[in-house]
Amino acid sequence: MYRPQEDSRLLAHAYGCAGVPPDAKVLDFCTGTGILAVTAAEAGAKSVTALDIAPRAVLTARLNAWSRRLPIRALRGDLGVARGLAPFDVIVSNPPYVPAPTGARDPRWDAGPDGRAVVDPLCREIPNLLRPGGFALIVHSEFTGVDTTLDMLREGGVKATVVARERIPFGPVMRGRTGYLMERRTESPAVAFDSCAGNETEEVVVIRADRPEFR
Ligand SMILES: C[S@@+](CC[C@H](N)C(=O)[O-])C[C@H]1O[C@@H](n2cnc3c(N)ncnc32)[C@H](O)[C@@H]1O
Repeated sequence: MYRPQEDSRLLAHAYGCAGVPPDAKVLDFCTGTGILAVTAAEAGAKSVTALDIAPRAVLTARLNAWSRRLPIRALRGDLGVARGLAPFDVIVSNPPYVPAPTGARDPRWDAGPDGRAVVDPLCREIPNLLRPGGFALIVHSEFTGVDTTLDMLREGGVKATVVARERIPFGPVMRGRTGYLMERRTESPAVAFDSCAGNETEEVVVIRADRPEFR
């Protein structure tokens, strides 16, 4: 189980600042413990759906909703399920986004060689999942490629901007990836990497994507 961390909290804070209307229909995609679904329900969203591919995450999200008496629908599923439940007014997502060498496949955070195995399909799907006038908030690391996410979203016809950022020290997973990230930096010099001895940090960003009322 992915325990809520700095990225979860940064996204929850961004949700609180985003001006979500009280009657919003919200999707928390990649819900884990359900922290963002709980944030949305506690902030007054009319309808909150929490999706995760891991059965244990779904159970945990249900328990967290039930113990707080919050009307959250937690379901097992990926983007295919989200498509069937769309459109949403608001989507929040903290997907797996850690670049992973071959063989590393923890679905809580590992996301392929460039960290984009879940982020890319999500970016492609967002314009179809949102109601006109709706918006999405996605959190990921600078190592996942912030400009790539912004470009993909804009290509899909949504307005995309960074609305929150925080520099945080590497946790145990990222510390274990230092060598791999250094190798990748050689391939993608555009990706920043501050690896001063013993001072590894990453910038975590929240990206907001707004679907215009009219296209
Ligand atoms: C980084 S955790 C985030 C958990 C929680 N939202 C948070 O912020 O603390 C990512 C979650 O995405 C789930 N996940 C991974 N791939 C997925 C996919 N393709 N569709 C839905 N959920 C997925 C994992 O099981 C994991 O619970």
